[in-house]
Amino acid sequence: MTDLDATSLARDTKPGPARKREEAPGDFSEGLVALRYPASVAAEAYRTLRTNLLYALVDDPPKVIAVTSPGPREGKSMTCANLGVVLAQAEKRTLILDCDLRRPTMHGIFGLRNFRGLVDVVAGGMEPRKAWREPLYGLKVMTAGPIPPNPAELLGSRRFAEFLSGVREEFDYVLLDAAPTELVSDPVILATQADGVLLVVNAQSTRKGSVRSSIRSLEAVEAKVLGTVMNSVRSSRNGYYGHAGYTYE
Ligand SMILES: Nc1ncnc2c1ncn2[C@@H]1O[C@H](COP(=O)(O)OP(=O)(O)OP(=O)(O)O)[C@@H](O)[C@H]1O
Ligand SMILES: [Mg+2]
Repeated sequence: MTDLDATSLARDTKPGPARKREEAPGDFSEGLVALRYPASVAAEAYRTLRTNLLYALVDDPPKVIAVTSPGPREGKSMTCANLGVVLAQAEKRTLILDCDLRRPTMHGIFGLRNFRGLVDVVAGGMEPRKAWREPLYGLKVMTAGPIPPNPAELLGSRRFAEFLSGVREEFDYVLLDAAPTELVSDPVILATQADGVLLVVNAQSTRKGSVRSSIRSLEAVEAKVLGTVMNSVRSSRNGYYGHAGYTYE
């Protein structure tokens, strides 16, 4: 693992008096804090994660990054979406691909309709630019599209690899929102195609054993685990963390 190890993300989405609520666009999810509440602690944590990605790995900067976690509902998609927002805010051309073809959620987060997407491009030959949307300047999002019968096969296909190498040229960052590693092989397959993997860990619920076995299965295919992102961090004294940063164990 690298310097990105254990970036902490505070679970803190509520607008408060100290956090002036900016004009909230359309149907963006409440959890899209980097956009809705840019002055919040949580938004600052995503910017810290961005800084780590931009500067901690200068010798070998990852461009295509898979986001996964050991189990379900640990905050992968929210991390992926907010990281996409803060990268776009830093003027990085960014593309988010909803590669969770079993339980896609990226469309809901960005208030988009999922009537066409990645599956249409990879399996149906649709032109990528017809399948992505730009919910905010500099950030393109490709929703999953119709759920296929064979997600692992599709994500491991030559056509998917060709599509990825095309978008790699066009964008500064391509973020792949993946399924959890404990349930299916999709994220491990995706990890082999990415330059690196961010492993999201829920500070309240993810067990250490799950993190270890997740890292083992990723490293077994020589995927590069860039670091763990600690989601829903809570301090024992005052509820939720009041700052962004690292935690070391
Ligand atoms: N940091 C956070 N702050 C607030 N809410 C969060 C945070 N992380 C996750 N959530 C909420 O927890 C739920 C699960 O998050 P998310 O969909 O990102 O998890 P996931 O790991 O992608 O789940 P799945 O395994 O279903 O893909 C969502 O309702 C989301 O709004
Ligand atoms: Mg998800």
